[in-house]
Amino acid sequence: MSDATTVDYDGMIPNNVGLNADPRLRRALERWHPGYLDWWRDRGPEGFQENLVYLRTAVSVEPEGWAKFGFVRMPEYRWGILLAPAVEDRKIGFGTHKGEPAWQEVPGEYRAMLRRLIVVQGDTEPASVEQQRHLGATAPSLYDLRNLFQVNVEEARHLWAMVYLLQKYFGRDGREEAEELLSRRSGDRDSPRLLGAFNEATPDWLSFFMFTFFTDRDGKMQLHALSQSGFDPLSRTCRFMLTEEAHHMFVGQSGVGRIIERTCAAMREAGIDDPTDIERVRALGVVDLPTMQKKANLHFSLTLDLFGSEISTNAANAFNASLKGRYLEDQIDDDHQLLNATYPVLRLKDGRAMKEGVPALSALNMRLRDDYIADASSAIERWWNRIIARAGFDFRISLPHVAFNRRIGEFSAIHADPDGNMLRTEEWQRRRDAFLPTIEDNFFIESLMRQVTERGAFASWIAPPRAGIDGMPGNFEYVKLAG
Ligand SMILES: [Fe+2]
Ligand SMILES: [Fe+2]
Repeated sequence: MSDATTVDYDGMIPNNVGLNADPRLRRALERWHPGYLDWWRDRGPEGFQENLVYLRTAVSVEPEGWAKFGFVRMPEYRWGILLAPAVEDRKIGFGTHKGEPAWQEVPGEYRAMLRRLIVVQGDTEPASVEQQRHLGATAPSLYDLRNLFQVNVEEARHLWAMVYLLQKYFGRDGREEAEELLSRRSGDRDSPRLLGAFNEATPDWLSFFMFTFFTDRDGKMQLHALSQSGFDPLSRTCRFMLTEEAHHMFVGQSGVGRIIERTCAAMREAGIDDPTDIERVRALGVVDLPTMQKKANLHFSLTLDLFGSEISTNAANAFNASLKGRYLEDQIDDDHQLLNATYPVLRLKDGRAMKEGVPALSALNMRLRDDYIADASSAIERWWNRIIARAGFDFRISLPHVAFNRRIGEFSAIHADPDGNMLRTEEWQRRRDAFLPTIEDNFFIESLMRQVTERGAFASWIAPPRAGIDGMPGNFEYVKLAG
């Protein structure tokens, strides 16, 4: 057994899982590696593969100093397999097996369910890299270009993390699943990624920042729920992934925040008091706030679908099996089995949204979604609305109602406006353009997307960040484009 805090950085695959002592696993991963690199070259970032990028690489799993920064070419990035340190005598915290020692091997009766959870999580990781692959060509600065690539290499490392679990614990089916993770393609008609939001395009940088704010935040919730798992290797893997995930959400919240900041400053300079005076604002070469709201409406509603149906036996089964817990399960004060508990769920009753108490076990998706909404809305207040308020404009970005623009669950059957009022189909069609980005909106956003590569320079529509990455100065060359 390896000492969990020491990372073996010498071999081809940096790891703290004792790969050297497990030749079978090592061979399996080494066989998977070339296909992975092909995937990265084919479906990873377009261009820039030969450029030196200032990236952080995980070199330890200690909370302090877990990463080191340096220039690397992306295909030479050290994607490793890193588990958070084992908690001694860890006990399962919820479900039927609450109180039993955490499992170090896959419990036979739950094998299929566990594999599915890992595959679904694993599928999202390469999917987002594929979705973002064209963005380098329109990066608003070298700083942002570097952040994009950092997110990309880390999502790809998350793929490694899930593939490790599949290869180590699931034998032949695990190897097959690992291959399929490389063969599905985001947005592909015949072989799409498993979840809807991961088949949508990420055509521009506003979409990218909204995606990392809203959709990576779903990733954070899912990782939290899985980090409670009774299957200890999954728990430890997810705990370490969460340290990287924080940066992805930082990229999203600060990215949108910087766009808002730039818009507000441009409106001030031009003497525009009304943020809804869209034409005048756009003429300044910045994104108007109502369009930002529409983008938030879109990305939020797409992301809510990732939480699945309001009432779900799959979620109940995974909890009962002690495989997937709730957000911060270990900090909740209840019996952690939920045998007699109920949970209020917003349901569609007689054409209206109404709260209904349902068995808490079947409402676990909802609970996770509610925790997500609380997390997202407080981040919006802190990161976005504060900037608008400081600039003195009467405008707030807000989250639409959960019934708005849904394709999965209770509200997929109806239309609702962002306040949750039900709309007849013709009214929805008439007013849709006021709620969601239109072709013209997207066309305008696209018109702003021009690559900026001078050191320390930023596109017209986005403010510089407060601070550089790793304490670097404003004119730092985060990506070396010449050679
Ligand atoms: Fe991830
Ligand atoms: Fe992420």
